[in-house]
Amino acid sequence: MKQLLLTCVLLMTAGYAMAKGEASYPVQTKNTTLLLEGAVGEPLKFIYYGPTPASLSEIYDSGTALRRNAYPTLGNDAPQSHALQVKHVDGNMSLELVVDGVAQSGTEDVKITEITLKDKVYPFTVKLFYKAYVKNDVIETWAEYFHTEQGDVALQKFASAFMPLRAGDHYLTHLHGTWGNEQNMVEELLTRGSKVIKNRDGVRNTQTDNPSFMITIDGKPSETKGNVIAGTLVWTGPYKLEFDYNSNNNPYVYESTPVFEIVMGMNDEASEYYLPRTTAFKTPEMVLTYSTEGKGGASRNLHRWARDYKVINGHKLRDILINSWEGVYFDVNQEGMDEMMRDFASIGGELFVMDDGWFGDKYPRDNDVTSLGDWTVAKKKLPGGIEGLTQSASKHGVKFGIWIEPEMTNLKSELYEKHPDWIICQDNREPVPARGGTQLVLDMSNPKVQDFVFSVVDNLMTKHPEIAFIKWDANMPLMNYGSMYLPRDRQSHLYVEYHRGFNSVMERIRAKYPNVVMQACASGGGRVNYGYMQHFDEFWTSDDTDAHQRLLIQWGTLNFFPAMGMASHVSTVPNHLSQRVVPLKFRFDVAMTGRLGMEMLPKDMTATEREYAIRAIADYKSIRPLVQQGDLYKLVSPYENNQYASLMYVAPDKDRAVLFAYRTLYMSSYPLFRFVLDGLDPDKNYRLSEISRMDKDKPALAQQDKIFSGRFLMNQGLTLPVNSVYGSAVVELTEVK
Ligand code: GLA
Repeated sequence: MKQLLLTCVLLMTAGYAMAKGEASYPVQTKNTTLLLEGAVGEPLKFIYYGPTPASLSEIYDSGTALRRNAYPTLGNDAPQSHALQVKHVDGNMSLELVVDGVAQSGTEDVKITEITLKDKVYPFTVKLFYKAYVKNDVIETWAEYFHTEQGDVALQKFASAFMPLRAGDHYLTHLHGTWGNEQNMVEELLTRGSKVIKNRDGVRNTQTDNPSFMITIDGKPSETKGNVIAGTLVWTGPYKLEFDYNSNNNPYVYESTPVFEIVMGMNDEASEYYLPRTTAFKTPEMVLTYSTEGKGGASRNLHRWARDYKVINGHKLRDILINSWEGVYFDVNQEGMDEMMRDFASIGGELFVMDDGWFGDKYPRDNDVTSLGDWTVAKKKLPGGIEGLTQSASKHGVKFGIWIEPEMTNLKSELYEKHPDWIICQDNREPVPARGGTQLVLDMSNPKVQDFVFSVVDNLMTKHPEIAFIKWDANMPLMNYGSMYLPRDRQSHLYVEYHRGFNSVMERIRAKYPNVVMQACASGGGRVNYGYMQHFDEFWTSDDTDAHQRLLIQWGTLNFFPAMGMASHVSTVPNHLSQRVVPLKFRFDVAMTGRLGMEMLPKDMTATEREYAIRAIADYKSIRPLVQQGDLYKLVSPYENNQYASLMYVAPDKDRAVLFAYRTLYMSSYPLFRFVLDGLDPDKNYRLSEISRMDKDKPALAQQDKIFSGRFLMNQGLTLPVNSVYGSAVVELTEVK
């Protein structure tokens, strides 16, 4: 039960006074403390982020206190990295912020510390917020600016957060990729100099990089051991994460050893923002967690927090769906859709999603060069309209979902003919189209466009309230930097206003339709982050559905994002992108580690495969709460081991678990590989049972129905029947009392 604890009690800074650290403000979760310090009239200092000590004096007495500006600004500390840089109305570019007051609000579970900083000379205020999610060990932080100068103050840099880190052997884990290969995990030593992770796509902010990272405190990264800070930015637009080794450690100014300065927030490039008097500007939230159990602990903290607080409908189990894209591509018609629904329902499927190709009356969408924006049914393909499809769905006993790409249009479309001024484009240049050579982005900074985009969903949902799922795609970057809506002297607001517009539309949609399940897709995995997940139930992980490749993509993704949101589909072989052929069981066993779905024609399965698919889908239903709501333990990384991969999900009270094991390369069958388990209760006994069995009468598992202690499994482990290339096994563990 959430209990209202305090509502905005203004605390005198002395109220926090601690030994040595006069005016210290500890932001605390169950196991961690982020410590700030600064008396009224003094600058705010970042002292410490780590496990909660027995007493705060340990931080000061041990020499661990960092004492760096908590939110550095350009001004009297010019050589340092900055979180905020402004140009005042009179042209002065400096800020000197000091503490003005501290307030606390929230509940026992979620506590907000609000620190008000004021400039010593200009009427410019910065509020820093630290929201502690106590039981998840997560701290969310952001800033808000406000001024009463006589004109607009130019914001030139406006980061969400700054964090100093004592310089040492820090390894950075982050994600990198490209279309069809998103969220690949990269691990590297942070060397001297700076490392920047950024995005300027404008529309899809995770196709190449992701605003999420982990950083080790004490050397090489490990899944199970060591101190790790993880961070992830809640923002749908361009971002910048800077890791800068401060070589300007001036001994007259800084007391402590050299630090890495980490600056996290929106990307300020081409984004100078003119803030009017008395208008607040809020940065996106930066989410931080600290783990003493390696990367695995950090991932679990983020997953739990995401399910509890961030992901829409975070505790609702997701349906098993089939998506029509790889099955028929643009070749959508009533008979084909009906047949797919029937076939999917007959193997236990729950939801059918019709992808691209269903719309465009004047210009039917037969390929990717026309029709975006014309969200009416292509009558020749679907004479019975969407109603015909929802009727089919109800006849077959599956739910119905639909694909849209509402932020986009094509040169050849009725929408563009009517509203050529709605696209992102400079008003005196020809637009550069992207996908299909004709696609363009609509200008989401324009309120009329926002209303139109809202109406795309609103019309569909009003006419067809049976729609249970919407796949929202976005397949091109913001190519033409310019808005025909924003005034000439405010063009640099484009990225910020595009995404404010997008987010306000999403808020309107969610206020009216909180229960329709929504998937964020952007050319595959281009929208995998919490900026999106606060509006969307899940994300399309990648257009690459090759199970082998997915092991790597999903491993990277799971570092920061929960399995319940990770759409993972079984597709046909040879895989349409990689041409790889892997057994259906391997494909299912990989897809089952996320939100299971299919992306093929069920009728293309052989009778034996179909019989297996029925079993696999039924088995997934039984382990669904474990996968979608349990704790992830990664055992064997496909990035480190070129033959095997393995992970497991464990129920919160450790009475049940499911283990997934894979073999991707056959080099030698001896010695047999041992899979050492994790996350179990050492003192509990577990019965093992193989699920997702190819042959229902013959488990391949030698340990079938045998009982082991958690201690033995986590110490000695198991050999599993994954002896050949693309062998895989799924084992359920159930506590025996
Ligand atoms: C993108 C998506 C695919 C599919 C197509 C449709 O590429 O990632 O899943 O929806 O668009 O055009």
